[in-house]
Amino acid sequence: MTVFQDYARYYDLIYRDKDYKGEVDFVISRLAFLHPTARTILDLGCGTGAHAEAFAEAGFPVTGIDLSGPMIKGAKRRRKSLPEDIAKRMVFRRGDARNIRLEGKRFDLAAFLFHSLCYQISDEEVINALATARAHLNPKGVVLFDFWHGPGVLSKPPETREKRVQTDDVIITRISEPSRDAKTNTVVVNYDLSIEDIKTGAVANIKEAHRVRYFFKEEILRFLASAGLTPVEIRPWGGAGEPGADDWNVYCAARAL
Ligand SMILES: C[S@@+](CC[C@H](N)C(=O)[O-])C[C@H]1O[C@@H](n2cnc3c(N)ncnc32)[C@H](O)[C@@H]1O
Repeated sequence: MTVFQDYARYYDLIYRDKDYKGEVDFVISRLAFLHPTARTILDLGCGTGAHAEAFAEAGFPVTGIDLSGPMIKGAKRRRKSLPEDIAKRMVFRRGDARNIRLEGKRFDLAAFLFHSLCYQISDEEVINALATARAHLNPKGVVLFDFWHGPGVLSKPPETREKRVQTDDVIITRISEPSRDAKTNTVVVNYDLSIEDIKTGAVANIKEAHRVRYFFKEEILRFLASAGLTPVEIRPWGGAGEPGADDWNVYCAARAL
């Protein structure tokens, strides 16, 4: 895998304004409805562990798995920086959500958050990743993932964006240039980062192309069934009702068939 490598070093800075706690509060609110006694969480595609931290702070033990070595390193660094009573609820391990099996370990929630499932491109990869989530569920366990919603992507196509983040030491400018491939229902997001050292003026560049798949509800239903899951909620992230043509970010909660 060639994504989330050098880019991982700057990931937390780029997303320092992202409301991870708010997202976790939303997931916890769905859990309170779907599985009120849920405690343990498997965070697949956990990245640098920001959701895991918020879950651990809320009292939930979390195991985070990520394919990217640098992202898992970031997650372990995060854990070290936290107070012991929170850090003790967090475990991170490098692994591939498409095939990892944690022997003897089962969870009340298996989640893919912030579009981690969308990095699985072929039907087989998506089904395998969902089957991994399914394989790690306790009885009554829930799978929850968010995804790029096809109708939203088609009605409001992704655009080139620039994001700038500054600290005392560096100025990071990230240009994201998307390009949609209608044949595979994917968008390649070309990230171009420039990192300027404020003291020396030196500039470093990082380029990564991330291919992300968007999904239609009918596909999600088919993939869930193939993975031994049945949907219980497919809704706009943070909202209610059927996802509409304007909804880009949709979540699905499912249970074992
Ligand atoms: C957009 S990032 C989200 C990371 C984290 N959930 C967050 O919210 O910050 C997607 C993550 O999914 C991970 N990922 C993609 N495919 C994966 C796979 N097959 N197995 C494990 N991790 C995967 C990537 O390495 C990356 O860290």
